[in-house]
Amino acid sequence: MTQRLTIVKPDDWHLHLRDNEILNCVLPFSVERFGRAIIMPNLSPPVITYQDAKRYRERINAALTKKNNFTPLMTVYLTDYTDPKNVKIGIREKILTAVKLYPANATTNSAQGVTDWRNVRGVLSVLEAEQTPLLIHGEVTNPNIDIFDRELVFIEQILTPIISEFPGLKIVLEHITTEDAAAFVSEASDKIAATITPHHLVINRNAIFDGGIRPHMYCLPIAKRERHRLALRAAATSGNSSFFLGTDSAPHTIKSKQSECGCAGIFNAPNSLEIYAQVFDEENALDKFERFASINGPNFYGLKPNEETLTLFKALWQPIGHVQIKGIGEAILPFRPKGDIGWRLE
Ligand code: DOR
Ligand code: ZN
Repeated sequence: MTQRLTIVKPDDWHLHLRDNEILNCVLPFSVERFGRAIIMPNLSPPVITYQDAKRYRERINAALTKKNNFTPLMTVYLTDYTDPKNVKIGIREKILTAVKLYPANATTNSAQGVTDWRNVRGVLSVLEAEQTPLLIHGEVTNPNIDIFDRELVFIEQILTPIISEFPGLKIVLEHITTEDAAAFVSEASDKIAATITPHHLVINRNAIFDGGIRPHMYCLPIAKRERHRLALRAAATSGNSSFFLGTDSAPHTIKSKQSECGCAGIFNAPNSLEIYAQVFDEENALDKFERFASINGPNFYGLKPNEETLTLFKALWQPIGHVQIKGIGEAILPFRPKGDIGWRLE
């Protein structure tokens, strides 16, 4: 039985770091585990131009210490009015690694997102020509569509026409939550990939209502039925190069989670990689872990895997209970799967 695992240092292809005090307090957890991360642009106000992304990158780099070997890979948030030329310059100047499409009002801080994908055709053409990935929050926002069906309906009504019109466009369908999304990506061309979060591999929708309402288990896309969780575990551990790691670690203060209208987001940065390792172990697929965590992502993005390595070992431990945010007197609760975690960072 494998007790220690040394792999190429992983990257996180979907991460929320926020800004200011929260950034300072959550960043070290990602730096310990990942060489690079795709940084989500849904700040308030959002990161909309490459100039915004450049300034945000400076703030992240300022929060790193000199010895940290961590590269934030920046994105911008598409609006109906994004200027394709601004995106092109951002890519050519090596400020932007990807561009994010939030359907307007799909999730946290997405009010300025895209109301109709046809409004951003000009940007999609630039991305296709530059081979720069479009990252998609794949949920429709129509309130008449059941929240548990919004990913599937998005694939049918929005993703499929985007792919038909831009067959050469690289797309990451982010944080997939359904059997349908996993099957769609498996059968699609190699231009289409998906990230899978640790929490969607561990919880199903019952966890949100386990003995009462559990706001810290609420994220978007919302966790689905057990059969979907099992399909995601099969996809992640399949060795298929279209699936890779993206934690979607999304810190919100306890106050903003536990309120009349609690925010969507699960903060898993303090134990994300360890949970993934445990899932791969439970699925007898530790031999495929490095591909999912460290190889498939850079290959898709046309980047080299990291040179450093990282070691995990088998040991039971409990993650930190509360993360106190210095300077604002509030705390964030990290994601806690039931029971102990079986893998630990060396
Ligand atoms: O649960 C989520 N939280 N889903 C998202 O898409 C956004 C994220 C956040 O920013 O908090
Ligand atoms: Zn996210």
